[in-house]
Amino acid sequence: MDNIYLIGMMGSGKSTTAVELAKFLKLKAVDIDDLIVKNAKKSISQIFKEDGEPVFRKLEGEWLRKVCKEKGQVVATGGGVILSPKNIQHMRDSGTIVYLRASFPVLWNRVKHNQDRPLLKGSSPEEALKEIFEERSSLYENAAHHVFLTDQKTPKQVAKEIFEGLFNKK
Ligand code: S3P
Repeated sequence: MDNIYLIGMMGSGKSTTAVELAKFLKLKAVDIDDLIVKNAKKSISQIFKEDGEPVFRKLEGEWLRKVCKEKGQVVATGGGVILSPKNIQHMRDSGTIVYLRASFPVLWNRVKHNQDRPLLKGSSPEEALKEIFEERSSLYENAAHHVFLTDQKTPKQVAKEIFEGLFNKK
């Protein structure tokens, strides 16, 4: 089976939803950020700080490309994956892209206590998140084959909706 790629903002629940959806579909769950961290042997924040964002983006693109070559996976991407049109093309060529859409206040509530989000490390993390949200919303919408709303839902509920919506299973 072709892959399913979950895209969306930080805090949209991509990683946990991927694990839950993979259980429903009996597929493997893969997390691009986890692959980067495990192989670089440092956290995302460390990579941003020591090597810079362009190095992180390069690693993100390289790991995505590797993952796109395999089949039968539910893939949790990092929030910035859609910044590269090549990344979007690789995902489209090898599977279905699902956007986990959430409203800004919900996203902010979910990420405000998390430490490993280097893009939110400045003096006004809420403003930074808002800016990213506004810049990227249309990129997510345009890249996706399907959109699912995640506000007020658990990752398991979202996964069930995707499972039923995409595979017509009840
Ligand atoms: C990023 C999102 C993060 C991680 C990195 C950059 C982004 O992943 O890849 O901090 O640009 O939105 P999550 O979306 O899983 O938080």
